[in-house]
Amino acid sequence: MRFHHAKMSITLLLFTFLVTLAPHQVQAADESLRQHYDEMDIPIQSEDYVIHDPSRVITKGEKQMIAVTGKAQEDGYSCGLETWYRTNYSASWKPGQCLFKNKPHWIEDLFDYQDGAYWAPELVKPRVMFYSVADFSDRSSITCVGLARAKGPFPNKLTWTDSGRPTSCVDKEDFEEEVSAIDPTTLTDENGTVYLITGGGIIHGTELNKRYEPVSGEWFSPGFKSWTQLARGPKSDDGYGWVEAAYAHYRGGWYYLFVNWGGCCQGIDSTYNIRVGRSRNPLGPYEDKNGKDMLYGGGSLFLRSRKFMIGPGHTSIHKDPHGDVFCFHYYDKRREGAAWIAERRLRWAKSGWPVVGKVLSS
Ligand SMILES: *[C@@H]1O[C@H](CO)[C@@H](O)[C@H](O)[C@H]1NC(C)=O
Ligand SMILES: *[C@@H]1O[C@H](CO)[C@@H](O)[C@H](O)[C@H]1NC(C)=O
Repeated sequence: MRFHHAKMSITLLLFTFLVTLAPHQVQAADESLRQHYDEMDIPIQSEDYVIHDPSRVITKGEKQMIAVTGKAQEDGYSCGLETWYRTNYSASWKPGQCLFKNKPHWIEDLFDYQDGAYWAPELVKPRVMFYSVADFSDRSSITCVGLARAKGPFPNKLTWTDSGRPTSCVDKEDFEEEVSAIDPTTLTDENGTVYLITGGGIIHGTELNKRYEPVSGEWFSPGFKSWTQLARGPKSDDGYGWVEAAYAHYRGGWYYLFVNWGGCCQGIDSTYNIRVGRSRNPLGPYEDKNGKDMLYGGGSLFLRSRKFMIGPGHTSIHKDPHGDVFCFHYYDKRREGAAWIAERRLRWAKSGWPVVGKVLSS
């Protein structure tokens, strides 16, 4: 019953968004992130660069771009999200652009409190992005996935515009199990159908239409047929633990689902580790190497802390001229646990399971 109430209020809000959509305006490109750092009270220098929750790497010609989580809104920093870029596969990542200095107004409407930094963006294409909105202080029980599109030259003169309403929201007070709409990613199946996969607590997925909206038009409820639950965390005495940072990949008739177990964001004390399972279908069931369903405690260990790379997480996969690349972030023991992006060669065993190879960048 509580759930029906939530759906009703969200539908009303949706209506409000549609009638209050601002007319299109011509905007300048989003501010340079390096310039934004320079203008802060204490400018961020390159030795203090941080990258957290990188999106998948988008490659166009020689240039590559990622989008990452925004920082706390303090010391004059006011970006909602950031992009970073590099000029070739071996160059180091440089600050790109500062996104959403003007906050999308649906976020103000829906959240009791939200500091203005958004989380874990996913680049679906060079100019299409999903991102998540949560409340750092935990004063709001809602989490949402938003959608933004860009115009302009890739990668550093883009102008990003929010779609004006959320793609999906979860109010955790509607559920007994812990569930949220964070860490969005998309999976394109063998026939080109795109799915949105999102979640912390329970990873869930649904089919999207060509405009990247859920085909069903529905938000998320564990009971909805149009959303499929794909994974939960490790089995514990009182149910299942937390899971997040999902990424899915299609290869050779199999869909692979990578998720994170453990805890992020504690520097070198982070216990984050990456788990994997696979399925013949984009919406599961995903099973680990022992045939255990990831919804019921399954998840084969794929990557954990090693040497200076503590708490690897937030998987994505892309290609370079030599093959598949496994990309993630980690907490750098050499820099007191500052988060940074790394890449390792991704190989596939005869059994079809993925294996990480040599470190390509860190
Ligand atoms: C890659 O970029 C770096 C820095 O921009 C440059 O020094 C290097 O020569 C480039 N390498 C190639 C192969 O283009
Ligand atoms: C892709 O299309 C083929 C042929 O219609 C169908 O058999 C298959 O199930 C589809 N795959 C998915 C993931 O829907």
